[in-house]
Amino acid sequence: MAEKKKDYSKYFDFSDAKVISEDETGKKIRIRGREIHIMSEPNHRQEKQRGKEDVKVLYENTVPESLKDLGRGKRYIVYTYGCQMNEHDTETIKGLLEQMGYQSTEDRKEADLILLNTCAIRENAEDKVFGELGHLKTLKLERPGLLLGVCGCMSQEENVVNRIMQKHSFVDMIFGTHNIHRLPHLIQEAIFSKEMVVEVWSKEGDIIENLPKKREGMRAWVNIMYGCDKFCTYCIVPFTRGKERSRRPEDVIAEVRELARQGFKEITLLGQNVNAYGKDFTDIEYSFANLMDDLRQIDIPRVRFMTSHPRDFDDDLIAVLAKGGNLVEHIHLPVQSGSTEILKRMSRKYSREHYLDLARKIKSAIPDVVLTTDIIVGFPGETDEQFEDTLSLVKEVGYDSAYTFIYSPREGTPAAVMEDNVPLGVKKARLQRLNDAINENSRLSNDKVVGSVVEVLVEGESKNNEKVLAGRTRSNKLVHFEGSPDLIGTFVHVEITDPMTWYIKGNIVPEPVTTV
Ligand code: SAH
Ligand code: SF4
Ligand code: F3S
Repeated sequence: MAEKKKDYSKYFDFSDAKVISEDETGKKIRIRGREIHIMSEPNHRQEKQRGKEDVKVLYENTVPESLKDLGRGKRYIVYTYGCQMNEHDTETIKGLLEQMGYQSTEDRKEADLILLNTCAIRENAEDKVFGELGHLKTLKLERPGLLLGVCGCMSQEENVVNRIMQKHSFVDMIFGTHNIHRLPHLIQEAIFSKEMVVEVWSKEGDIIENLPKKREGMRAWVNIMYGCDKFCTYCIVPFTRGKERSRRPEDVIAEVRELARQGFKEITLLGQNVNAYGKDFTDIEYSFANLMDDLRQIDIPRVRFMTSHPRDFDDDLIAVLAKGGNLVEHIHLPVQSGSTEILKRMSRKYSREHYLDLARKIKSAIPDVVLTTDIIVGFPGETDEQFEDTLSLVKEVGYDSAYTFIYSPREGTPAAVMEDNVPLGVKKARLQRLNDAINENSRLSNDKVVGSVVEVLVEGESKNNEKVLAGRTRSNKLVHFEGSPDLIGTFVHVEITDPMTWYIKGNIVPEPVTTV
């Protein structure tokens, strides 16, 4: 049987909702005794629009003096789902909360504020959040003063906001991906009005600079662009994150310089499609290759980026990456499928041949490069032969690792209305075969480094054994070795002795012989 699509239409039944008032601050409604202040709500039609609004770069004044004491003596927790973009947004949220006087806690029983920063990419991501809301309801009943908020990509979906307003009315705040900087005001509004406050903007998006960020550890994320205009037919991101817009190079470079000054050892540049960086500038010619060339000259040991799209990956970029230095030999290059026909229906705008050519060019320019990828199995109508094309591509490219997914229909995307005739059992079997092939690749690639000495940035103790340290090579391989915790945050050289599937083991050595 093909996967059954969930019917959300029941959540649009507002027959028992009463409008109390409506003015320029929005609309107040009452649903079964709960008052809700809808300052703005998501609108799928508007979220699709592109190119009608100018992108503004706003240098925000962070938290106003009047709100700096609102969180004094109170504690917060933010639970984060989804991609690095969300992880990084959480750092901004924490930065704002701490400027308001809030302090973090790990114990939800002592939290005064709990936020769920959500992901909408697949149905199971959303199910997790609704499951968590169920648990939080119990906590909220025990402690009515607890403030609960939902933000992130799910908040940008009409059906999610409607469902929360109707079925989870104990939630106090819903805000989206475009108005994180409004958080202090929304908290104030929710505390003083005691109403559920909904503010989600369905705009194409601005760029907000100067927001505080609470970063931890030795690795830092840096946004270089926001949004996505690719509209792959299966994907919700262009709707939840707005249009593609690049931060000004001088702002990115200043941030990276400051991180270097603070002693960060590694930065990862973030964007849904980093190769499109700069294409939206109207006053300057400045590409992702130019940005990487400029960052190469900053004294920060490692620069990574996530995620690149095969369509915009040009020769200039390959030439800059081949210069090495702090630009590491790892490229995450999502392919999604090895079948040109499926790629066409996904609207990825490249063919199998184009992708294979690109992989060949990258490998010949950067001989030590490690490629990783994302793959979807069971796209509507995917035949056995088309799946075999994916398997053969995986073997040909020889990825070190991959994120693999069963296709999940997302309401409002073009693929959600395509006929999905692949039975779930077949999709699961394909996923298993794909994962086996990728594990085999990982093992082969790990075998190859046995005996070599690799440079490792020590990130912490391994999860299962505190005597063992864990870190990553330039090519992002996970390495385990014995050593003193004093080494955390430094670079060491490790001679590889044992290749495992998920990581490699080795011993610290004083002098490098070769690097991977
Ligand atoms: N911008 C990145 C990917 C962001 S989403 C890119 O284009 O490569 C991360 C991954 O989730 C995607 O690469 C894709 O493999 C997967 N994904 C996105 N939508 C999905 C869906 N509807 N069902 C299953 N997997 C999906
Ligand atoms: Fe989604 Fe495609 Fe944009 Fe990636 S490039 S975020 S898969 S629409
Ligand atoms: Fe999820 Fe939004 Fe990232 S949908 S994958 S959190 S951009």
